Amino acid sequence: MKVLVIGKGGREHALAWKAAQSFYVDELFCFPGNAGIAEVAKIPEIADDSVESLLDFALREGIDLTIVGPEEYLAKGIADAFEANGLRIFGVNKDAARLESSKAFAKEVMKAAGIPTAAYSVVTDAESGDSILKTSKYPVVLKADGLAAGKGVIICNTYEEASSELSQMLGGKFKSAGAKVVIEEFLKGEELSLLLLTDGTNVKRLLFSQDHKALCDGDTGLNTGGMGAYAPVAAGTDELYEKVNESIILPLLNELKKRGINYRGILYIGLMIVDGNPFVLEYNVRFGDPETEPLMFMLVSDIIPYFWAVSGRESAEKSINGSPLPPFTSLEAMPELVWRSGYGMCVVMASGGYPESYEKGKVISGLDDVDENSVVFHAGTKSGRSGNVLTDGGRVLMVTSCGDSIAHAVENTYKNVEKISFDKAYFRHDIAHREMEREKNDHKNG
Ligand code: AMP
Ligand code: GLY
Repeated sequence: MKVLVIGKGGREHALAWKAAQSFYVDELFCFPGNAGIAEVAKIPEIADDSVESLLDFALREGIDLTIVGPEEYLAKGIADAFEANGLRIFGVNKDAARLESSKAFAKEVMKAAGIPTAAYSVVTDAESGDSILKTSKYPVVLKADGLAAGKGVIICNTYEEASSELSQMLGGKFKSAGAKVVIEEFLKGEELSLLLLTDGTNVKRLLFSQDHKALCDGDTGLNTGGMGAYAPVAAGTDELYEKVNESIILPLLNELKKRGINYRGILYIGLMIVDGNPFVLEYNVRFGDPETEPLMFMLVSDIIPYFWAVSGRESAEKSINGSPLPPFTSLEAMPELVWRSGYGMCVVMASGGYPESYEKGKVISGLDDVDENSVVFHAGTKSGRSGNVLTDGGRVLMVTSCGDSIAHAVENTYKNVEKISFDKAYFRHDIAHREMEREKNDHKNG
């Protein structure tokens, strides 16, 4: 069948790379794409990345399945538009996307469902916000309600800082995304990501993974989109999963149903584990980036039948082009996902200066020297005129590898990171440090 991936980051490269290996995929497209994606998928000529233009292309080309990476498209209602035109799409509809596009809405849903999460208030004016901040415990967390490109969460250590930040947010720092602000209790613990495939009733879990949001080693410095990730996480035990299932997943799916929200797609749960108990920091309605890179790298199962089953609403039960289709039409009937043993991880190579200002257009060298058992997923890259690859964004490459232990995975990954260079390249040296610590302690304790 013909498949279209929408997006241009490392996550979409990983999804396209995995889709390209599927038994069911005859022809793969990705838009807007990047230099790395162009090696596994065709980058079609489409006027722009508006929902209308993408829909027009999918109809014209006879795309059997569209896979959406970024949340912006989902919040704009791309799934609704494709389905209204009889096209199959993997990605939640606009109503369901509110779980990510409005943090106040997500908190309200969690509260109604009794899901463990940080205590909070929602404010729209500085005065009432200020009176809450005066009696808050510090640090306190401020969250712009709407989508703010991953920058809308600020942890404030003092009242003065919080008060000034709140008035900036309400004053338009994040444009309309900050017209409402969630003031939230700070939770201290270990952060884990759990991604699930769901049709609103049935769930297939992916491995627990862990991102590293801070820019610098030791989890210090500015917050970023994520500087590296690994999976699985030893702290993500079956026992923990059971707790998450009972206290977070089942209540959420019930609550969404009660509200008439048809949730089909990826559910990304950002968890904080506090004294062994899971709390929800946030929901995202799409794959995490960079978690998806090690997850797709470690996944043995063909992912396409899963996407197919999840996206099986009423529309399009036949391949538009007459090619073979996955046999499953319900997620319930499908086996659990199968994973490689050991660990997968990725290290993000970024442009110096990211997440603030940085230069683009630097020549990347060493991409061809990477080991056969490793993959470099591209984020901000583009093809240069002389056939070379140039930097074209803040996060540039996700160097991804694996190992039978976390120590081996770290060694294999960094060995490849060292082979790649571009002017002012920056990366963290301690990705997976918590897991390394756990592994060391395990060895010590026999
Ligand atoms: P987000 O950009 O929404 O992924 O959030 C950014 C980061 O802020 C999260 O990954 C956490 O590290 C942190 N964070 C969000 N909410 C809380 C909270 N209630 N307590 C502590 N840290 C938080
Ligand atoms: N890795 C964090 C995110 O995708 O939001």
